[in-house]
Amino acid sequence: MSDLSRRPPDAAVGIEMPHESAALHVTGAAMYTDDLVVRTRDCLHAHPVQAPHAHARVTALRAAPALDVPGVVHVLTAADVPGRNDAGVRDDEPLFPTEVMFHGHAVCWVLAESPEAARLGAAAVEVDYEPLPAVLRVTEAIAAESFQGARPTVERGDVERGLASSAHVFSGVTETAGQEHFYLETQCSLAHVDEAGQVFVQSSTQHPTETQEVVAHVLGLRDHHVTVQSLRMGGAFGGKEMQPHGYAAIAALGAVVTGRPVRVRLTRTQDLTMTGKRHGFHTAWRVGFDTDGRLRALDATLTSDGGWSLDLSEPVLARALCHVDNAYWIPDVRLHGRIARTHKASSTAFRGFGGPQGMMVIEDILGRCAPLLGVDPTELRRRNFYTEGQATPYGQVVRHPERLGLVWDQVLANGRVAERRAEITAFNAAHPHAKRGLAVTPVKFGIAFNFKAFNQAGALVHVYKDGSVLINHGGTEMGQGLHTKMLQAAATTLGVPLARVRLAPTRTDKVPNTSATAASSGADLNGAAVKHACEQIRARLDELAARRELGWEDLVREAYLGRVQLWAAGFYRTEGLEWDPARMQGHPFKYFAYGAAAAEVEVDGFTGAYRTRRVDIVHDVGDSLSPLVDLGQIEGGFVQGAGWLTLEDLRWDESDGPARGRLATQAASTYKLPSLGELPEAFHVSLLRGAHEDGVVYGSKAVGEPPLMLALSVREAIRAAVAAFGHEGGVVELPSPATPEAVFWAIERARLGSATGQAVPAGTGVD
Ligand code: MTE
Ligand code: MOS
Repeated sequence: MSDLSRRPPDAAVGIEMPHESAALHVTGAAMYTDDLVVRTRDCLHAHPVQAPHAHARVTALRAAPALDVPGVVHVLTAADVPGRNDAGVRDDEPLFPTEVMFHGHAVCWVLAESPEAARLGAAAVEVDYEPLPAVLRVTEAIAAESFQGARPTVERGDVERGLASSAHVFSGVTETAGQEHFYLETQCSLAHVDEAGQVFVQSSTQHPTETQEVVAHVLGLRDHHVTVQSLRMGGAFGGKEMQPHGYAAIAALGAVVTGRPVRVRLTRTQDLTMTGKRHGFHTAWRVGFDTDGRLRALDATLTSDGGWSLDLSEPVLARALCHVDNAYWIPDVRLHGRIARTHKASSTAFRGFGGPQGMMVIEDILGRCAPLLGVDPTELRRRNFYTEGQATPYGQVVRHPERLGLVWDQVLANGRVAERRAEITAFNAAHPHAKRGLAVTPVKFGIAFNFKAFNQAGALVHVYKDGSVLINHGGTEMGQGLHTKMLQAAATTLGVPLARVRLAPTRTDKVPNTSATAASSGADLNGAAVKHACEQIRARLDELAARRELGWEDLVREAYLGRVQLWAAGFYRTEGLEWDPARMQGHPFKYFAYGAAAAEVEVDGFTGAYRTRRVDIVHDVGDSLSPLVDLGQIEGGFVQGAGWLTLEDLRWDESDGPARGRLATQAASTYKLPSLGELPEAFHVSLLRGAHEDGVVYGSKAVGEPPLMLALSVREAIRAAVAAFGHEGGVVELPSPATPEAVFWAIERARLGSATGQAVPAGTGVD
């Protein structure tokens, strides 16, 4: 393969073009999986029977009454499963459970002629339950020692010696909240058995290959009997990496049992109550600093809320442990991780995949300790940045650490941060009941899957006789603009206008054994595979072109007549990755994505309500493949992160009554999402210039997840504003999420602290 990162002149990559489906999105013409139902004759609709207990044994299930409901065709139960009764890949998620593990868990599914008939049928199914005790909070799980999966440790140096030799040692607890994906398109699958006996599943999935594998094992078929297509998703954010499999399996099983197409589309409430969310984390820590405020040692135990089954909890935890350091050099470190088992929907991938939860620990520590150290938080962060030659706690040398300083300095300059600090001080002095705060935070995010095998991709590119080009690749489109980038990459490599290239929906029968489109690596992996395929075709054509001067169309026609192969399969695997999951050491990432954000908020002292007045971001996407797409990713990721940290508040019923474990926030009316009103009033995003990345497709870098973590700047800005209500040098602890209500109480505490002069972080020591 030629140099992967070299970009030819006049390349189609780097052009500022809209998302390939932008016009379809805004006109409503874009098709999603559920839109295909209206074109599907004879389709049956599935409705789950959801258990009204957080934990219970199913002692009896009577489906017969449902069959008396007009329109009901069948009730799917474990008895229908010809293969393995499991919705996941860890063998711990029965598709039809005999033990209910969370409130709303589906115990069986009713198939009917209409959605309404299916709903009435589900209400008629009789289930007997024997309720069991339910663990809800991570802290309850810790007390009960209710854990699941591996308990890894990342360790370097001697943390006890590091703490003993530190000038300042502090301890505390940091809790991070979970988050609902709230993709606009809920989980959806449509399956039928085609004329050749093949099971064809349309699924809103980020991981068509794994959906195919789960459907096949539930049906007791080999993978080649099942084809999964992911047309496009109306948002996914990690929530469709593993969660779609069970719904696809229900649709496919229904299709096989009834001989008719079956549709599963969750209502919003079903989606909220049944599907996994971001892992909440509980972290107990001890930290040591030297006299200059340099980090000396960190000992932390991170416990994630895994919900009822493993799902992706282990890799999420691994990524969390690998991001506690964020941008900072810490000589002696011990980071221990474990996964709580709780009676809630199984937590899953969510943009950042544990990275945000890990990073929040160190940013929370720095934000809380800065006043105790007497160092300004911005200066404290800058002072601790990695420098050339230093390695992360898991042993990977940080390449290009100077870019941290670059993005940082540019954000300070672009945001006129020094001048604005003076303005903010003046404003705060003049306003007893409103305070402003400004904070700057960095991001360093590792790119590649920790699971080495996932770092491969395939593509299939056809050039037709008329010169038109059709590309298939293994990545899925969820709004992030992957397909746009792939069109640009193909046009660049082939040297044809963008209008010549079309992209087909992702299907497992075109490109097999694909990885999830996740870990932000969709463009890195699939782009390199598309490029590889196009290069083979280009090389064959170049041989012809060397003999005669021909335009593209003529060249292709000549090639066909000369019996030159006009299609090619491409393949790519990321080289240089090494990871030992037992020791948690190695070189798991291809490179790091860097960014910095400065956020300013104003907090109202009477209510705790805040607004984000201004945000400046400088983010490193390498040489952008598609600058408008990347800007959209940065803005969207940032706002989603701010929602997680400051607005979105998942609540479960914690009473001891029958509603225990019921998700209380099961609609947009009770779960506050960021909307236009919460956008920063001034929002300045720029891409780091001259950021070419060697060894990555056309010099670019991944962008999908890293910007989410830039939103930590908003949380830190709120901390600064709250601190301004108290006395100079007071410590502010912020709960997660820092909702207006939580901010109000933090202000009350800050005011009280100023009266008593108290300035010691509360919280317990490390257990
Ligand atoms: N952007 C949009 N609009 N919708 C999404 O669902 N998912 C995010 C991110 N950006 C998402 C998104 C997540 S979790 C990931 S891992 C990446 O996109 C995946 O796509 P990529 O690898 O092509 O960046
Ligand atoms: Mo993204 S959480 O890796 O799907």
